Amino acid sequence: MSYDTIIRGGTVVTASDTFKAEIGILGRRIVALADHLGDAIEIIDATGLLVMPGGIDSHVHLDQAGAPGIVMADDFASGTRSAVVGGNTTVLPFCLQQKGQTLREALAEYQAKAAGKCHTDVALHLIVTDPTPQVLGQELPGLIAEGYTSIKIFMTYDDLKLADRDILEVLDVARVHGALVMVHAEGYDAIRFLTERLERQGKTAPFFHGPSRPIPVEREATHRAISFAEIVDTEAMIVHVSNRAAMEEIRRAQQRGLKIHGETCPQYLVLTERDMDRPGMEGAKYVCSPPPRDSDSQAACWEGLQQGVFEVFSSDHCPYRYEDEAGKAAPKGRQSFRYVPNGIPGIATRMPILFSEGVAKGRIDLNRFVALTSTNHAKRYGLYPQKGTIAVGSDADLVVWDPRREVTITHALLQDGCDYTPYEGLKVTGWPVRTILRGETVMVDGVVTPGSSGVELRRPA
Ligand code: URP
Ligand code: ZN
Ligand code: ZN
Repeated sequence: MSYDTIIRGGTVVTASDTFKAEIGILGRRIVALADHLGDAIEIIDATGLLVMPGGIDSHVHLDQAGAPGIVMADDFASGTRSAVVGGNTTVLPFCLQQKGQTLREALAEYQAKAAGKCHTDVALHLIVTDPTPQVLGQELPGLIAEGYTSIKIFMTYDDLKLADRDILEVLDVARVHGALVMVHAEGYDAIRFLTERLERQGKTAPFFHGPSRPIPVEREATHRAISFAEIVDTEAMIVHVSNRAAMEEIRRAQQRGLKIHGETCPQYLVLTERDMDRPGMEGAKYVCSPPPRDSDSQAACWEGLQQGVFEVFSSDHCPYRYEDEAGKAAPKGRQSFRYVPNGIPGIATRMPILFSEGVAKGRIDLNRFVALTSTNHAKRYGLYPQKGTIAVGSDADLVVWDPRREVTITHALLQDGCDYTPYEGLKVTGWPVRTILRGETVMVDGVVTPGSSGVELRRPA
């Protein structure tokens, strides 16, 4: 057999195994794994390097509409460009239903935003904000059947939150038709109560974003979301978990046999609330929800990753420019933290941060790294085994990784549409040197291949 490409000399890492092998690629797929594979049109020398499944980031926001006057820093082109710089081959952004809009209208909008622009493959989650009888009765069942099998719902934010009854209805539709509900678990009323009290006290700087949504706000909502999933008898994914109390809610649910899954993100491992305590508006660079917490919360997130309470590690990439009135410097944000757009960039830095802080520092092994950054995302969101592993028949979606390369993170490396990174100056060990999407190199040594070969993926219900 002859191959289009052979990757030679590397150490192959999957979620379960680490072994020396050559990888033979023909067309878009992996067709052979063996000690010696002979010849190919292209030989990629991976001597001394790791070859892992391309990263799958199942929680990213691209070109998503926000408050009036606020514009996200990344569209599907720049966001997925930064993704391949960081070793990713598939991302799962959100398709946001605006109130009053049908889901099909929203989907058409996001498909148009993505069409022909993506450097990675893309699968869309649906955000349901307006669960009308038509959405619950016709649109959602139809779209789930067509391959849109994950739905995010919010327990907070004025324009996004669902009432408890609506959460139960969405969970029930997901149960009946075979979708997974992702829950943003922070309680709306508690946040409003605390925000208004802080504002009355004149505490309006970005730092007070943290005190406006403290740990009990997240713990209570996590408990409520889990209870709703239990009442409906279905599964749910609690996303972007930031602290011990919420992690323990999820762990208890799992120990009771409930199908509750958890996700955490880089910001909860390496940032704290002190990062928001900077002069002027500088703290706005770190404002995201839930907010970064403290060192015990960081330790708990590591425990959750080590013990399998969190099965996916995602970026929650939600980029707004800092020096920009359409971003973090929006004039109203100076009046109060409540108007600072929530979200931080991180699509390119997710894998290097987990590798460096996790694998290089001995907190997790290589196989768990692959599970957390790729395989478990593919399995949970219906892309496995086409994506998320290195096996004969799988898409040749790969990252070639230098485990020894030392890099100081700086925004210029990341090639996103933002104008800062919250991880500026962080020193990491381990860096992606080549990203391969369906057999084609899309990034080598930080240089992204021109053009956009990413396609939209659908998933079985
Ligand atoms: O602050 C954040 N995380 N913004 C993004 C939207 C979300 O809730 O995931
Ligand atoms: Zn969220
Ligand atoms: Zn998010």
